Amino acid sequence: MFKDSRIFVAGHSGLLGSAMLKELGKAGYSNLIYVSHRHLDLTDKSAVFDYFSQNLPEYVFLAAGKVGGIADNKAYPASYLHVNLAIQDNVFEAACKFEVKNVVFYASSCTYPRNCPQPMKEEHLLTGPIEPTSQGYAAAKIAGLFACRSYNDQYDNRRFIALLPNTIYGPYDNFDLSSSHVLPALIRRFYQACLSDDKQVTLWGTGDVRREFVFSEDVARASIFAVENVDMLENCHYNVGCSADHSIKELAEKIAVITGYRGSIVWDTTKQDGAPRKMLDCTRFQGLGWMPEMNFDNALKLTYDWFVQNYSEIINR
Ligand SMILES: NC(=O)c1ccc[n+]([C@@H]2O[C@H](COP(=O)([O-])OP(=O)(O)OC[C@H]3O[C@@H](n4cnc5c(N)ncnc54)[C@H](OP(=O)(O)O)[C@@H]3O)[C@@H](O)[C@H]2O)c1
Repeated sequence: MFKDSRIFVAGHSGLLGSAMLKELGKAGYSNLIYVSHRHLDLTDKSAVFDYFSQNLPEYVFLAAGKVGGIADNKAYPASYLHVNLAIQDNVFEAACKFEVKNVVFYASSCTYPRNCPQPMKEEHLLTGPIEPTSQGYAAAKIAGLFACRSYNDQYDNRRFIALLPNTIYGPYDNFDLSSSHVLPALIRRFYQACLSDDKQVTLWGTGDVRREFVFSEDVARASIFAVENVDMLENCHYNVGCSADHSIKELAEKIAVITGYRGSIVWDTTKQDGAPRKMLDCTRFQGLGWMPEMNFDNALKLTYDWFVQNYSEIINR
């Protein structure tokens, strides 16, 4: 990838896409192209083909998709399946037709089996049933992983790069309580508890389950690393995590401290916890030379600061 290569960041306004723009810029890539969802719906095949034919991107980071927390995934599995499948299929086909050099696709840790051995390795894919609450989203992402392999095999190249990050967090995350992941949801809950001087915050589950969170800018740097080192990659997917996890209780306590919340935290143990641990084994990708850079506490504070600065816009969405 040359510094003046035409690079399309799809989903540039989102959590990962915004970090991609920032990290590509920092790395000296100057010819970045992007378009809002309003002006290009990636589920619309003819619009996608028109966009590629007019803009001829050489590299694509496919950070566009439908992403949400457990409740939203459970309520709208068909929408998660359809939107993600359509975006992938349209972009992959257009990338082949217009001879894009590399496309980076992002799968998710929910593609691994519900009772996967921990930490989860790449070869654990399809070794057991997936978590039913995210089945639509996971099925689309599994299809995407096999699409990358199939296109590479059929066209005898390494055009498609499949990365599998664990839960991403950072600026531009989704802080909507009905559709967000746990980390941004806790930031909002504790911040609002401080605003209204609540003495108690009730959270779901025992708080004992452990989760790995990877900072958006680390995933962006991993993506650039993958394209810059494409000759080292095999035709398979690579886990991208930070090799550390936290219990939800630890996370809640950290966020309570950052927000200045001084009340009590009550755990509603009548609510389900989910899998006890979801940690990625990243030795395959890290063995190529990539390492996450961001310290969790610093990145959490940075995410919180961004949330506070953008609070009025977030609550009015
Ligand atoms: N977040 C995670 O924890 C995580 C973990 C692993 C993998 N991933 C994957 O990483 C990618 C990026 O995730 P993210 O968390 O950054 O998502 P995000 O913050 O929700 O951003 C998604 C982006 O895609 C755009 N978009 C959605 N539907 C579109 C459509 N039909 N046409 C054009 N643009 C569309 C959104 O624009 P609007 O906001 O304007 O709709 C937004 O810019 C996704 O493929 C996701 O599956 C995410």
